[in-house]
Order: sequence, then C-alpha cells, then structure tokens
Amino acid sequence: MKSDVQQTHGLDPARLPNHVAVIMDGNGRWAKKRWMNRVKGHEEGSQTVRTIVESCRKLQIPFLTLYAFSTENWARPRSEVSALMHLLKKFLTSECEEMMEKGICLKVLGQLEKLPEDVQARAKKTMAATSDNTRMTLNLALSYGSRQEITTALQILAQKVKAGDLAPEDISEQMISDHLYTAGIPDPDLVIRTSGEFRLSNFLLWQSAYAELFITPTLWPDFTRAEFIEILTHYQKRDRRFGKVACSMPSDGSPQ
Ligand code: IPE
Ligand code: IPE
Ligand code: MG
Repeated sequence: MKSDVQQTHGLDPARLPNHVAVIMDGNGRWAKKRWMNRVKGHEEGSQTVRTIVESCRKLQIPFLTLYAFSTENWARPRSEVSALMHLLKKFLTSECEEMMEKGICLKVLGQLEKLPEDVQARAKKTMAATSDNTRMTLNLALSYGSRQEITTALQILAQKVKAGDLAPEDISEQMISDHLYTAGIPDPDLVIRTSGEFRLSNFLLWQSAYAELFITPTLWPDFTRAEFIEILTHYQKRDRRFGKVACSMPSDGSPQ
C-alpha cells in the first residue's frame, strides 16, 4: 500500500531524514511587523509547533528536535522569559493527551533543573506519561546550549579519569556523544532555521557535524506544512557525501 507520503507530496519515503531539528526563530519580528507585543509572536509560534509535529508524524519522520529556549535566552527581559515559561507549561499540558493518542514520546534536552518548578513538574509528568510511546520522539530543547552540554559531558568524563575508571586515550567520539543530552538519539540529518539568520546560535554543534542546513527567510509563525515539504524535497536532492566522493563518480575520484 502506498504511504500517505507517496500519495501526497512526491517525496521518496526511503530518503526522508530520520531526524529533523529546527531553530524556531522570528517570533519577535513577526509580532513587531504587526505592532504587537513579542509574546503574541510566541503564542502564534506555538501553533506552528503543532503543525510541524503533525507533519513529521504523518511523514513518519521518527525524530524531531525543536529549539524552544536557549541558555542565552535567560538574558531576555524577565517579562518575556516568564511569558515563554507560561506558554511552555500550557503547551506541555494541552498536548499531553494528543501525544498519547498519536504515540509521541516527549524528551527535554537541556537544563531542566533551571526551569521554574511548575514547568519542570509538568515536563516530567508529560515525559513520564509518554515514555513508552514509540511512533515518534519529540525533543524540546529547553534552556539548551551546546557549549554547556559539551562542557558538562567533559566534566563527567574528567571525573571518571580522575577516579581512575577511564584512561584519557580511551575517550572516544561515541563516549562523548553518549554523555550529551541527545544520548541514544541519532544525529540530525537536517537542520532548519527560520527567519533568515545564518547561524546556529549554540544549537546541536556536536550533533550537526554532517547535518544538511536549510535556512528560510520565513518567520516561524508563518512557517507552514507546505514549506516544510518543500524543504524536504530540496533535502532529497542534496548529495550527502560525508567527506567521500560523489556516488556518481568513479571510485578513483577522477572526473568522468
Ligand atoms: C524565537 O523567536 C523564539 C525564541 C528564541 C524563544 P525570537 O523571539 O528570537 O524572535 P526574533 O528573532 O526576535 O524575531
Ligand atoms: C535561537 O534564537 C534560540 C531559539 C530559537 C530558541 P535566538 O533568537 O535566541 O538567536 P540569536 O540571538 O538570533 O542568535
Ligand atoms: Mg531570534
């Protein structure tokens, strides 16, 4: 039987990314353009979250990571931070049932302990409730920063070396990966950033070593399922060489 994917979008199901990661940027500018408070942009952005989660689920993309709040975002005005935390709690509460129905497992990547108590409690509750769901994993990057993540991983490994449980020369790339928040989650194949900024802003720096990057000028609240499909279509045309020569080239690398 043809899958939903083949029937509707002309995508090759065999070449879909296994893991899509999104830097959801541009909520503030979306609001500013409409003379609205930035918080209105975040509210509108949370609707886009719903749309993209649903799109991934329908396309059977097993891992989706959404960058929702960075370690640097704590430096924003207190009122904006607290509005974001409020929205987050609302999202975690309202979406729990939907995640159960759709078989989505929620994970938080980041400093969960830095979030307000009530948000932490809600996040833990939703994570526990959805932990056995296997159709899709939704990772929310909250108080997340790659440098903090890598630093913490190295501190743990250094402790093991100090205790005599690990030799420095035995530290492997896999071991470092296993000590990141993303332990056990495959590296992203595709990283999308909305709002036209050409930077990673401390997002999945280690994990994105060979991710395909896609930057769109669209502001996050305006991002649609149709644009997501378009990006996936472009992704399928990319030649992922991983440092090797192109598949179409002869094995000695000489021009054809
Ligand atoms: C992204 O939108 C959401 C968060 C970083 C929490 P922004 O709030 O960064 O929106 P812009 O970049 O100011 O437009
Ligand atoms: C990146 O967006 C963080 C999130 C989307 C959560 P920012 O708006 O914080 O990034 P910069 O400041 O433009 O680099
Ligand atoms: Mg921004």
